[in-house]
Amino acid sequence: MREEMTKSAAPGGGSDHPVWHGRWTLLMAATGSAVGLGNIWKFPYITGENGGAAFVLIYIVFVLVLGVPLMLGELGLGRSSRKSPLSTIMDINRERGLPKGLDLAGWIPQIGSISILTFYSVIAGWSLLYILYSLMGVFSGIDAAGSEEVFTGLLGSAGVMILGHTVFMALTAFIIARGAVAGIARSIGWLMPLLLTMVVIMLGYSMFSGEFARGVAYLFTPDFSKVTPAAISEALGHAFFSLSLGMGAIMVYGSYMQNQENIPVTGTTVSLLDMVLALGMGLVVFPVVFAYGLEPSAGPGLIFQSVPLAMGNLPLGDIFNVVFFSLVAFAALSSSISLLEPTVAMIEERVQTSRPVITVIVAGGTWLVGIAAALSFNHWDEIKIFGAGIFDALDFVSGQILLPLGGLVVAVWSGWYMNRSAIREQLVMSDALFSIWEIAVRYVTPLLIVLVMLGGLGIISF
Ligand code: PHE
Repeated sequence: MREEMTKSAAPGGGSDHPVWHGRWTLLMAATGSAVGLGNIWKFPYITGENGGAAFVLIYIVFVLVLGVPLMLGELGLGRSSRKSPLSTIMDINRERGLPKGLDLAGWIPQIGSISILTFYSVIAGWSLLYILYSLMGVFSGIDAAGSEEVFTGLLGSAGVMILGHTVFMALTAFIIARGAVAGIARSIGWLMPLLLTMVVIMLGYSMFSGEFARGVAYLFTPDFSKVTPAAISEALGHAFFSLSLGMGAIMVYGSYMQNQENIPVTGTTVSLLDMVLALGMGLVVFPVVFAYGLEPSAGPGLIFQSVPLAMGNLPLGDIFNVVFFSLVAFAALSSSISLLEPTVAMIEERVQTSRPVITVIVAGGTWLVGIAAALSFNHWDEIKIFGAGIFDALDFVSGQILLPLGGLVVAVWSGWYMNRSAIREQLVMSDALFSIWEIAVRYVTPLLIVLVMLGGLGIISF
């Protein structure tokens, strides 16, 4: 696949803003951003913690009702400005004559993306280490207790965890330092096909070896008695997290999207692909969990304990473990680059320094905070921020507060503040569909986000 960088012709865009010309580049990059640890690591374990199918159903409704319209709005915001998320929001504010204080809204996606990256890289680092363990044969013939021991052993060893985190952050920075075209577009071109192949292999594996029917029933037979306001709030946060919404990732990728590409079609495809892949990963993980009598509610360690155990007891299991954890690592990498890009793009617009230097500084700072998150599993487990460890606090603040707020910013700025003819021009679709989109981002999304956030924080109950 060939990509070239061109000068953007978009009004108001930076004169050297890159555009991706490959026909599939935006689709693959946005899908790469969306499909990540959220699908493979987080979706199975929070589904397990929240009792299965009812939670899944709420998540699906959020993806369809809020996710898809926001995805279109966020792509539209990015492509029409061809600037970083902060500048996109600030430009609209100036154009509208809005108070300077509202520029704060532009900081939410910027801060959100980088704060997610701090702990995201730690988990992605676990997957790199698990590739190594699999290659070393650690999981051959392992039993449930042994698999748990490997995982808790990892949580206890700060040095090893920091090593994984460091290598992963370095890979992320390496791609981003090379730029949106030579770095992101080019690596996505081989990452995504590889990823899809691995998902298919793993699904085939789970169909033939795990308790597939039980896995299906668990994911698709809802029991609504298990639904709490906190679960609804978690499903909303996760729908946004999984679709990469509200954090500037999709907005910055939208700014590299060529003009002739159709945002409604591409955005909807990305959202649906992400959802299908999350469900697909549920179908890989739960059959294995049930086959080995594990607890679906095991928490963040779920895939790290269940998958090696299942594979470790099969012929060629080590190879499947390597495939699975490479899948996790590659999916995480195609997401982490989209978490670093918004900040690098934002600084690049403002400071006359080379992109590699900016990347190293931003990635370095993120890496340092990530180390604190890694240490909160062991040496620093006594340190609490509002009662939660550093890792959990970063996860909570970004997942339950910054993500929904970022979604609100996308909804309000694309639905209310952005010039109506400018967004109409971006979203090439029938008038009827555009009206539905407008109702969704103007009224439905903001209302639901506010209700769910207040419910999740325990401020209102329903
Ligand atoms: N969507 C990614 C995942 O599921 C995480 C992500 C969130 C990426 C927000 C970018 C922005 O792993």
